[in-house]
Amino acid sequence: MDFTGRDFLQILDFSSEELRYMLEVAKTFKKYKQTGQDHKYFPDKNIVLLFEKTSTRTRCSFEVAGHDLGMGVTYLDPAASQMGHKESIADTAQVLAKLYDGIEYRGFAQKTADDLAKYADVPVWNGLTDYCHPTQALADFLTIEEHFGSLKGLTVAYLGDTRNNVANSLMAMSAKMGVNYIACGPTDLRPDLKLFEKCQKIAAKNVNTITVTPDINALASTADVIYTDVWLSMGEDKSKWGERIKQLQPYQVNTKIMELAKPTAVFMHPLPSFHDLETSVSREVHEQYGLSEIEVTNKVFTSDRSLVFEEAENRMHTIKAVMYLTLKSKGQ
Ligand code: CP
Ligand code: NVA
Repeated sequence: MDFTGRDFLQILDFSSEELRYMLEVAKTFKKYKQTGQDHKYFPDKNIVLLFEKTSTRTRCSFEVAGHDLGMGVTYLDPAASQMGHKESIADTAQVLAKLYDGIEYRGFAQKTADDLAKYADVPVWNGLTDYCHPTQALADFLTIEEHFGSLKGLTVAYLGDTRNNVANSLMAMSAKMGVNYIACGPTDLRPDLKLFEKCQKIAAKNVNTITVTPDINALASTADVIYTDVWLSMGEDKSKWGERIKQLQPYQVNTKIMELAKPTAVFMHPLPSFHDLETSVSREVHEQYGLSEIEVTNKVFTSDRSLVFEEAENRMHTIKAVMYLTLKSKGQ
């Protein structure tokens, strides 16, 4: 397997074996971190992190993973740089590739991530676009495997906006890793048909299934993981809240939903989450629409079936694996 110099733009760019290997490397790095084993493999390398959208987990994971690998890390807020308004993506990519050994990008269009990769001759890592969130799916699968001991025979059910970035990557990762996936949400927020059919084909080869349904009863006694994400993603207009709440309220993850799933089922969420009134966004939604918990109830979020903070930690270990594999020299 050769990852050297490759970009990490979306899950479907990698084979099942390559994704499996990334998870194994992440597990090794997690052990190193826990036992304090030095892994500063790249003292002469530098990376740059470009964020057009806000972030806590992704930015911090790239920064900590970068430092743990011994690298210099620059954070660039495109609002404060020339990118996009005074300098094209192509020019920015070529300049950054002269100075840095790897580029992380979080932003809007997948095309921007793809273009950065096209023009930069160093690895480009996708830290979330409107289309997908591949480093999140890696962390999710590490978390699921750690919890259940194996991925074999498991079913992941995603409830809510089944066509968003997180859902797209989770569906692709399920297909590749041989895990059953149920996209459960309203028919007008279904996954993109082309991506869905591609994932179905991959899944068929790996002897698992990818299904889409508006019916919550599809989870009954089948789901091992109940996964949800925010109902309105970054970059979507706030005016859509009313419509989304109407569409997605039946898919809120609450105790009733958890009881529908297997008794051993766990809850997962990429975070940040609107499960209480401790954020300005949730307070605004509460004032306007009367909802005090949005995509998940506080009871489920804080229950012992919730893996959300393990998931958040695993962002760092998996991102480290992706950077290590794509930055190391051949044969290293
Ligand atoms: N899950 C996730 O990507 O979190 P951030 O938006 O905080 O990076
Ligand atoms: N779907 C969410 C994920 C955040 C990590 C968003 O794009 O805002």
